Amino acid sequence: PMRTTTRDIARLHAEGRRFTMVTAYDYTSARLAERAGIPLILVGDSLGMVMLGHDSTLPVTVDDIVHHARAAVRGCETPLVVGDLPFLTYATTADAIDAARRVMAEGGCGSVKIEGGRTVAGTVHTLVDAGVPVMGHLGFTPQSQHTIGLRVQGRDTGAARRLVEDALALQDAGAWSIVLELVPAPLAREVTARLDIPTIGIGAGPHTSGEVQVWHDVLGLFDAHVPRHTRRFATLGDQAVEALQALAAEVEAGAFPGPENSARMDEDALAAELA
Ligand code: KIV
Ligand code: NA
Repeated sequence: PMRTTTRDIARLHAEGRRFTMVTAYDYTSARLAERAGIPLILVGDSLGMVMLGHDSTLPVTVDDIVHHARAAVRGCETPLVVGDLPFLTYATTADAIDAARRVMAEGGCGSVKIEGGRTVAGTVHTLVDAGVPVMGHLGFTPQSQHTIGLRVQGRDTGAARRLVEDALALQDAGAWSIVLELVPAPLAREVTARLDIPTIGIGAGPHTSGEVQVWHDVLGLFDAHVPRHTRRFATLGDQAVEALQALAAEVEAGAFPGPENSARMDEDALAAELA
C-alpha cells in the first residue's frame, strides 16, 4: 500500500469529505490509528507533555520528534505522518531547513508543521520550494504561550482579520493545510471558506475541513479534567488501572501465571538430572 500524500488529502478536501488527524507518538499507537482508517498522524510536540511529562511544549527537541516519529512511521504503512518543528528550531531559515531535514530524512515524516502566520510565511516558502510539505498552525499556538496567553484566539478587536490574513499568507507561501486551534467556530468557518487548502480544527468548531485531536484526550488516558475542545471516546486510563489491579491481585493470590501460561517438563527426568 502507498503512503497517503498531501495530494490525497487535497483530493478528499476537493470532494468535500471531512477527515481526521490524530496524534500518535509510537509504533503501537500508529498501528492502531492505521487500523482505524485514520489518514493523518501527527507526531506533535504535545508529546512533551503527554509522553515526557513536561508542563509545556517548549522543552521538546528535534531529537525528541525524530525519535518518536521513527517509531510511529514503523507502525503504519498508509497514513501520512506529520512532524512538528519544535520551539525555536525555525526562527531562522537555516535552522528551519536543518530541522525539517532531520524530521523528514531521519524521522521519516511526509510533512512538517510550524506555528505562526505572516512572520513565518517566508520560511514556509523556502521549505516548500525545497520540497518540504508544510502544515501551518494558527490561533492558539502553544509555542507562543508566554506571549499570547493560554486562551481562545481571534476575539480581540482586529484579531479576526489578522487571523484571516495570516491564513491567506500561509496559503500563498505554499502551505498545504492549516491547523486552527482554539478559534471561535464562526471565525474558523470564515477562514475555511476563504481558503482553497483545508483547515484542520481543534477547539475550532465543526466548520473546518478536518479535525485533529490528541491521542490521550480522545482515548481517556488522563484522569484530569477534560477540556471543552475534546471528548473522551473511551476511558482507557480507567480500564488500564482496572486491568493492572487485576494482574496484581492474581499474582498476589498465586492465581497468575496459571498452568496454561507455563512450560511443562518431565518431572522424573528433571529429578534424575538434578539428583
Ligand atoms: O502538538 C500537537 O499535538 C498539536 C495539535 C494539538 C495540533 O500541535
Ligand atoms: Na504541536
